[in-house]
Amino acid sequence: MSLALYRKYRPKLLEDLLGQELNVQILRNAAIQNKFAHAYLFYGSRGTGKTTAARLVAKILNCETRASDKKFHEKGEPCNHCRVCTEIDNGNALDVIEIDAASNRGIDEIRNLKEVAHTIPSSYARKVFIIDEVHMLTGPAFNALLKTLEEPPDHVVFILATTEFDKLPATIVSRTQRFVFKKLSKQTIVKKLETICSAEKLEYEPAALELIAVAAEGGLRDAESLLEQVRSHSPKITAQTVEEAVGRVGWKKLKDFSELLAAKDLNKALIFLNELNESGTNIVQFTKDLIHYLRRVLSLKMNPGLEELFQNELTNDDILALKNIGAKNTPDFFIKLLKSLIRSYADMRYSPFALVPLEVCVIENLK
Ligand SMILES: Nc1ncnc2c1ncn2[C@@H]1O[C@H](COP(=O)(O)OP(=O)(O)OP(=O)(O)O)[C@@H](O)[C@H]1O
Ligand SMILES: [Mg+2]
Ligand SMILES: [Zn+2]
Repeated sequence: MSLALYRKYRPKLLEDLLGQELNVQILRNAAIQNKFAHAYLFYGSRGTGKTTAARLVAKILNCETRASDKKFHEKGEPCNHCRVCTEIDNGNALDVIEIDAASNRGIDEIRNLKEVAHTIPSSYARKVFIIDEVHMLTGPAFNALLKTLEEPPDHVVFILATTEFDKLPATIVSRTQRFVFKKLSKQTIVKKLETICSAEKLEYEPAALELIAVAAEGGLRDAESLLEQVRSHSPKITAQTVEEAVGRVGWKKLKDFSELLAAKDLNKALIFLNELNESGTNIVQFTKDLIHYLRRVLSLKMNPGLEELFQNELTNDDILALKNIGAKNTPDFFIKLLKSLIRSYADMRYSPFALVPLEVCVIENLK
């Protein structure tokens, strides 16, 4: 069976960890100086490199090449081919213990862990405990862990990871060295997808990769899984297949309809609405999406600086469309239109004829 893309392309060097430059710099310095903390906390949103970084630290702490070659040591990276590095990559290193706190939440599991922590490593220099989803531990389990974090045996390093920093007791947080893992920018995600596509010899449309990056909302694992999903449906990665996979077909409709509105083309707008209604589209949802779409048109028109903010959630084509539509009419037109759309939305939710309030609103604003 082929390896999932996100596992196949897991970074093997700190250098390859994208978008987390500050963390990389601090960890690399620690590696060069051999000054690691006893407890780390990696937190931040999903699929941004926490587990990857934890395994890299485990490798660096134990890499045999580093231990024997002073020159190599100064790179602050693992060698990735000694016995230790290979075992950690394959997930069969006895001294690197990964625990999923979501399914090992209780005090007994933590007591167990403490016992293991106090025995010396079986063959590595350091025992590394990677506790994932650490926010899931119960109160008593946290207390038990706290004591070990306070006085860990010399040969032990703890790496706690979580997506939910706010759920951690302050006592735990304060005993760790903390690293936040930020969402990755759209450009960073697109770049990695490009690398994967060329390594996998996949044909793609640039807009398709951009759509994947937008849908992944800053998480690289989600982006890689989505690419995988699309690949399994079609040999070429096209914008259309991605849109279908993420259920974004409505987007083009919003754009087309907004263009008609901004151009005050009442005839075509009414035809559009009737066709939309007959095609079985949920008019209430459509109106809601339309309000969000036009809200963006208006705010971008009033403050072009927002483009940077929109970068991560929209593709370049999306942003261009918003600008073009905004240029077609005055701010007052869009303000009035939005206000009456919001009113129609409130009306239609309790009306048996969802189309009518929307139609009336369109006529009122375009006549
Ligand atoms: N910063 C990154 N640079 C390069 N690749 C990354 C990065 N973050 C995630 N990836 C990709 O996504 C995969 C999953 O990343 P990882 O397991 O480290 O995420 P995580 O932050 O631990 O996520 P979760 O919160 O869901 O546990 C990696 O194997 C890699 O392919
Ligand atoms: Mg993880
Ligand atoms: Zn090594």
